[in-house]
Amino acid sequence: MREVIIACDFKNKETLYDFLEKLGDEKPYLKIGMQLYYAEGANLIKDLKAKGFKIFLDLKLHDIPNTVYSAMKVLGELDVDITNVHAAGGIEMMKKAKEALVETNASTKLFAVTILTSLNDQKLNDELKITGTVDEAVKAYALNTKAANLDGVVCSPYEASMMKEIGLLSLTPGIRFASDSADDQQRVATPAKAKDLGSDYIVVGRSITKADDPKAAYIKAKEDFK
Ligand code: C5P
Repeated sequence: MREVIIACDFKNKETLYDFLEKLGDEKPYLKIGMQLYYAEGANLIKDLKAKGFKIFLDLKLHDIPNTVYSAMKVLGELDVDITNVHAAGGIEMMKKAKEALVETNASTKLFAVTILTSLNDQKLNDELKITGTVDEAVKAYALNTKAANLDGVVCSPYEASMMKEIGLLSLTPGIRFASDSADDQQRVATPAKAKDLGSDYIVVGRSITKADDPKAAYIKAKEDFK
């Protein structure tokens, strides 16, 4: 089933709850990232779950396998719907993350971030000393993600069909309505285009959170992506 996830890039829970009020009786899937999680901690997640929201906890874990395993044991207790790690941590790290979720009996789906969209071929080669192109690295990291038996990857809508071929779900940011500005996103797609390209989940931030009518924008995203 396709789902629209709202990126909750807010500084604290008060701003988040002010925003959620504007959605009325809608109970969307929420992406809670490092900013809100570090500010508010696990209690925010428990509170949102008790209120009936689905949660993608976007903390992008990346450390040695044993440390990620221990951290994921803690996150597993929160039993969020989706969480994630960096594929750059390697196959063993991803396997340990998955193992921790299985051991806590969490129903959490585990996704991997491949190559950050803030990187390009030049930075990959010159700074990080990874040879080849970003596209090649994305594919290699996706194959590693599959080898570690994770559920999916965070990627561009334009990579969704490749992920499907590999057997991974795709969760895609970089979504804008046709009438919006792209802001700092490089390659954007509308919700309808993301659906055609094969995305399973779209992450929509400012196109909903900064809309004049966030509820109408959310409902439009859901309709267009259905
Ligand atoms: O406001 P906007 O729709 O651009 O928000 C997109 C969200 O997705 C932000 O929380 C951003 O950090 C996240 N994201 C992204 N591109 C990635 C990975 C995550 O835009 N490659």
